[in-house]
Amino acid sequence: MKPKLVKQLRGQKGQLVGTLGAMASPNPELFDKVVNLCKRRSFVFPSAEIYGGFRSTYDYGPLGVLLLRNVKDAWWRSMVQMRTDVVGLDAAILSPPQVWEASGHLANFSDPLVDCTECKTRHREDQLDDPNICPSCGAVGKFTEARAFNLMFKTQAGPVEGAGADVYLRPETAQGMFINFKNVLETSRKKPPFGIAQVGKSFRNEITPGNFVFRTREFEQMELEFFVPPEEADDWYEYWMNERYQWYLDLGIPSDQLRMRPHEDDELSHYSSGTSDVEFMFPWGWGELEGVANRGDYDLRQHAEHSGQKLEYFDQGTGERYVPHCIEPAAGATRSMMAFLMAAYDEEEVNDDTRTVLRLHPRLAPYKVAVLPLSKKDTLLPKAEEVLALLQPHFMCDYDITQAIGKRYRRQDEIGTPYCVTIDFDSLEDDAVTVRERDSMEQDRIPVDGLVNYLEERLAL
Ligand code: GAP
Repeated sequence: MKPKLVKQLRGQKGQLVGTLGAMASPNPELFDKVVNLCKRRSFVFPSAEIYGGFRSTYDYGPLGVLLLRNVKDAWWRSMVQMRTDVVGLDAAILSPPQVWEASGHLANFSDPLVDCTECKTRHREDQLDDPNICPSCGAVGKFTEARAFNLMFKTQAGPVEGAGADVYLRPETAQGMFINFKNVLETSRKKPPFGIAQVGKSFRNEITPGNFVFRTREFEQMELEFFVPPEEADDWYEYWMNERYQWYLDLGIPSDQLRMRPHEDDELSHYSSGTSDVEFMFPWGWGELEGVANRGDYDLRQHAEHSGQKLEYFDQGTGERYVPHCIEPAAGATRSMMAFLMAAYDEEEVNDDTRTVLRLHPRLAPYKVAVLPLSKKDTLLPKAEEVLALLQPHFMCDYDITQAIGKRYRRQDEIGTPYCVTIDFDSLEDDAVTVRERDSMEQDRIPVDGLVNYLEERLAL
């Protein structure tokens, strides 16, 4: 496949590019509303809460695990399933120092750290509003000299501490793809341009984690390393910027809350000759969702040099031998899950009442359908269970028999369930159910034997 040359997102360094028209502005109240909803409706819990919590680590509850999985599945579907030029990988999280020496992380993956000698707090120097004033206690000129603080978590493999036992938790999934380049090339019958995709946990000892799951020390990434002939690198860089920007739009992020920002030269990572970030308007302002980087041949050359292996492509047709260049769209799964939640959250007045509704894209919604018998009388439950059993092989379903039906609709609205299916006393006679759509609240009477088709067509999963 050749890259489509779509120019609309091309920007000069430092120039913002998005759709034309007004962009959204920060909305601090939204942050508290979504964080509260996450706790109340079991999306995300603070980790180790019964022990007082463990700062900036989170556990994904019954609904969060479904939403996060759906975000990762949507990425995998678009990046692997729907393509013929990308294959998947699941590499180890623990890796030896040689990998990180070669990648440059041991030398370069650090933030400048300063200590306030007055209140003993630590800060990232590059994030201070004023490099002389401590944001915690207001002391002026009390910072220590900045020192480089490496963000990788180090641990020991095996029972003996000491030389040779050091291992690192990966700070990105990317290196797993580079060190498997040769394995994949030799076994997958792919040739450049082709990519390796991976979804998984990464770990960074962030100095200033925060803003809920936006920046945590343990998080999930969704990364693609796309290897191309060197002369095609610029076109593919542009192609992937467009693809990735569109992915968020297609899954429901409004265009006025999304933009593409090319990096300034002094922002570029040690490996990158060009990077553009997909940014979302978080409640506190613009924040990165994903970086699309032109990494050149940096990684394959580094690993070839350090491992002594040839990491190159030999084209038998032309007799040409070259080190492919790499274009990398690197997204955060947990961070984009948060963005999808923020973008989906809505409140509206309905019959003098405030309806909270998560207008999540059906592909992302934790439950696609809720099955709700009108009452929990024994007469209705067998029919409701029959409908549930019919739907469960096709869709992730919730089943709720408690409370009045209006309250149950509101509960489903609040967690983003696109359809509620109600079984009432007429259902026992006409073998039909009432289907209510989340956003319009419109209702349809549908025969049970046409229900799966009806929902499949509308959910379009
Ligand atoms: N391989 C390139 C790479 O890792 P990155 O910009 O450092 O690039 C990619 O990370 C994405 O991973 C970010 O855009 C962000 O969505 C996510 N990410 C990075 N650090 C994170 C953290 N501490 N917490 C949550 N997500 C993070």
